[in-house]
Amino acid sequence: MSGQWREMVARLVADGALTPEWEPVFGGLPRAGFLPDVLWRHQVASGEVEAVDRRRDPQRWREAAESAHPLVTQWDDGEPEAQGRGRVASSSASAPHVVAAMLRDLDVRPGQRVLEIGTGTGWNAALLASRLGAENVTTVEVDTSVAAAARGALDRQGLGAVTVVCGDGFQGYPPRAPYDRIIVTCGVHTFPRAWWEQCRPGGVIVVPWGTRFTSTEATVALTVAEDGRSARGTFQDLVQFMSLRAQRREVPEYADYVTAESRDKAERSATTLTLGETIAGEWDVSRLVLGLLVSDCTVILDEPQDGQRPVWLCSLADDRSWACVLFREDRVESTVYQYGDRRLWDEVEAAYGWWRGQGRPGLGRLGLTVDDDGQHVWVAK
Ligand SMILES: C[S@@+](CC[C@H](N)C(=O)[O-])C[C@H]1O[C@@H](n2cnc3c(N)ncnc32)[C@H](O)[C@@H]1O
Repeated sequence: MSGQWREMVARLVADGALTPEWEPVFGGLPRAGFLPDVLWRHQVASGEVEAVDRRRDPQRWREAAESAHPLVTQWDDGEPEAQGRGRVASSSASAPHVVAAMLRDLDVRPGQRVLEIGTGTGWNAALLASRLGAENVTTVEVDTSVAAAARGALDRQGLGAVTVVCGDGFQGYPPRAPYDRIIVTCGVHTFPRAWWEQCRPGGVIVVPWGTRFTSTEATVALTVAEDGRSARGTFQDLVQFMSLRAQRREVPEYADYVTAESRDKAERSATTLTLGETIAGEWDVSRLVLGLLVSDCTVILDEPQDGQRPVWLCSLADDRSWACVLFREDRVESTVYQYGDRRLWDEVEAAYGWWRGQGRPGLGRLGLTVDDDGQHVWVAK
């Protein structure tokens, strides 16, 4: 084990992400063994993306491989318009602390059978295989070339008995069901019944779950009910995963919402809420909570201009309602424009007021239940 990877493992243990059972597994299977020659280091905090090519700069490549960053390994579903970095990151090796924390929350026991959705590089499947036995791990990847590369990496690591399936993980993988655990490593806003139906009663499903409001998500660990007809559990950590292909966040076209007529008719009001306390913080629970309460709505943050930051709210339902808040840091009040059947900013204010009234509950008090009637978010007392 290299010094840098040893330090990474020690840091994950100190943070509480890596449990004693997983520590030797991480130590024995560094992420570097699963990565392609060209990858992109993604600094989540700044949004910066930097290409690293092992053939040109092996030292830098190794540093990236053993760093705390998520590493993008594919753009635009493998068909970027130009060589190199594309528009949408479509496959990656997740950040080691996220992988460790999700495996901790999965709470596996020896001999259990696990289904992973989102094979990516194959690293997470390899960690599971090393702990549980390769024959107990099934992993589903939607992208043919990504699945083939993961297959190759697993074979090279002596984990050829892992079942790698190329297909749509939204359907689970019935031929190998039931599973004791399901781990999903791409973000979803709609939870398919297939997952809890293919997991044993008492089994655990860990998934990054969010809404279409913003890209902020949280991992949630759900336990399947004894009658097998629902699953429930609490949120764990804020994360931002690349989405399941069919559930990517839509960015609405400005012209589909803001017409000359709707501009003229938009209702003008004012708000004393700030951008910071509501929507701005990518890693704030408030942003997740607002998304949970203001359904079928998405946020677009425009670049600041003339001392103000326009923030758009667009209804994703047929009504095409919109709102625009011109946030200003130098004034107590910001101007709000709202148009359509819904008053989207009023909904955000009401949601924020409710959350404040509940004592601003954090993730540990917020939970999700999925059943035949849909998805329900709740607050624990
Ligand atoms: C963050 S990466 C997974 C990281 C991976 N677990 C690892 O260890 O490297 C997300 C992966 O989910 C895959 N994906 C997206 N939609 C999917 C779907 N419907 N079914 C299966 N995989 C999907 C993407 O192609 C991508 O490879």
